[in-house]
Amino acid sequence: MAGRLEGKVCIVTGSGGSIGRATALMFAREGAHVVGCDIVAEGAQETVELAVKAGGSMISVHPCDLTEKAQCERLVAAAVKAFGGVDVLFNNGAMAYFAWIDAMEDDVWYKTINEELNIVFLLTRAAWPELSKRGGAIVNTASVSAWMGYKMLPGLAHTTAKGGVLSMTRHLAMEGRAHGIRANSVSPGLIESTQTKPHLANPEWKQQMCERIMLDRAGKPEEVAAAVTFLASDEASFITGTDLRVDGGTLAW
Ligand SMILES: NC(=O)c1ccc[n+]([C@@H]2O[C@H](COP(=O)([O-])OP(=O)(O)OC[C@H]3O[C@@H](n4cnc5c(N)ncnc54)[C@H](O)[C@@H]3O)[C@@H](O)[C@H]2O)c1
Repeated sequence: MAGRLEGKVCIVTGSGGSIGRATALMFAREGAHVVGCDIVAEGAQETVELAVKAGGSMISVHPCDLTEKAQCERLVAAAVKAFGGVDVLFNNGAMAYFAWIDAMEDDVWYKTINEELNIVFLLTRAAWPELSKRGGAIVNTASVSAWMGYKMLPGLAHTTAKGGVLSMTRHLAMEGRAHGIRANSVSPGLIESTQTKPHLANPEWKQQMCERIMLDRAGKPEEVAAAVTFLASDEASFITGTDLRVDGGTLAW
């Protein structure tokens, strides 16, 4: 039986991280040719090894800093060289920095906007010609932080960047329609990841965060990957310009 992404060439950014790895492995299980990338080489290489060991098709470009235009172009060129084009772009890799407004250094603000928002624009622009050729699918990672604030999270720059990802996605959907490109986002809630695990080890932090979640627990990277796989696949052929919340009900009460 064919997988849901059989033969599709799928770029996954931040493939060495938690959600990126889970998605790369799920894409590979669904028959995709996966093209990973990460600024950190070690984790990215491990993901390739895991995918190939499980019988999947995956290459990776690393280290690759997607805040640089030339690196974005290098990644797209690698996908074309290895597999002939790009069908799916999962803009997942990002890094946020946190500060309350009265302690916000310029650098913290600009780095967050660059590494969470500009990064999505730069790679999408680089991949656009290839996505246009095939009527591809874009899935961007927004966040519940695009929709709300957590009272213990100094997330001013983060919420701004993710809000930008959210509205950029709607506009990409509008521009993409002429080329058969669909564009959607996922908004994960609190997910167990390399970025959140140290905080989740703090019982007070964990309790306060989980109080916001209907299902009373953090999500798993695989639970985000499942939503991304759906949006990337032809099962979502009539879905564009939307945001799928993967948040255990955080935004629903
Ligand atoms: N974990 C959560 O609770 C949560 C919640 C909402 C949204 N998100 C979003 O999910 C996405 C994945 O995060 P995660 O939780 O898996 O974290 P993670 O740190 O495990 O993964 C992020 C990966 O992106 C890579 N990366 C960062 N900057 C990069 C750059 N400039 N170029 C290339 N690669 C880069 C990192 O090296 C890392 O491997 C992010 O966009 C994050 O904002 C996470």
